[in-house]
Amino acid sequence: MIREVLRMGDPRLLRVAQPVTKFATQQLAELLQDMRDTMAHLDGAGLAAPQIGVDLRVVIFGGMSNPRYPDAPAVPDTVLINPELVPLSSVEDDGWEGCLSVPGLRGWVPRWTHLRYAGYAQTGQRFERVVEGFHARVVQHECDHLNGILYPMRIRDFSRFGFTDVLNIPGIADE
Ligand code: NI
Repeated sequence: MIREVLRMGDPRLLRVAQPVTKFATQQLAELLQDMRDTMAHLDGAGLAAPQIGVDLRVVIFGGMSNPRYPDAPAVPDTVLINPELVPLSSVEDDGWEGCLSVPGLRGWVPRWTHLRYAGYAQTGQRFERVVEGFHARVVQHECDHLNGILYPMRIRDFSRFGFTDVLNIPGIADE
């Protein structure tokens, strides 16, 4: 079911979300289906459960290729529950981001370029990945939602924050 996406200013986007304690449940399956439906409907690159008002540490992302990284593989369709992120270097890179909770805008956001993340699949199986570039950026953006952080809070250069149609950036999906 397509759900309403909360927009910046809603206090529910600022909560630190709660860990999932039971996996492979009907409730979790329904949440993930709603998240997939909502993300697909809005043509998003990722979605976090708090964005539909659900206070749980659940994110989904992937399924898109990215024109900024034409040689990189598309980010795989991923369900990531109770994620843990560890940067593998202190190097950061800036890139454009949008967010379904901040519609119509884009910002230039610093993120770690290399990181390891771990967490749980829908089944409760633990997995781990080492990623870089756009994949790393998407994971950081989505996991920030679980800690009440929206990408504008990360912007350092506000001269590169504006309306998508005015900025005229090549196709970057909302996360
Ligand atoms: Ni977002």
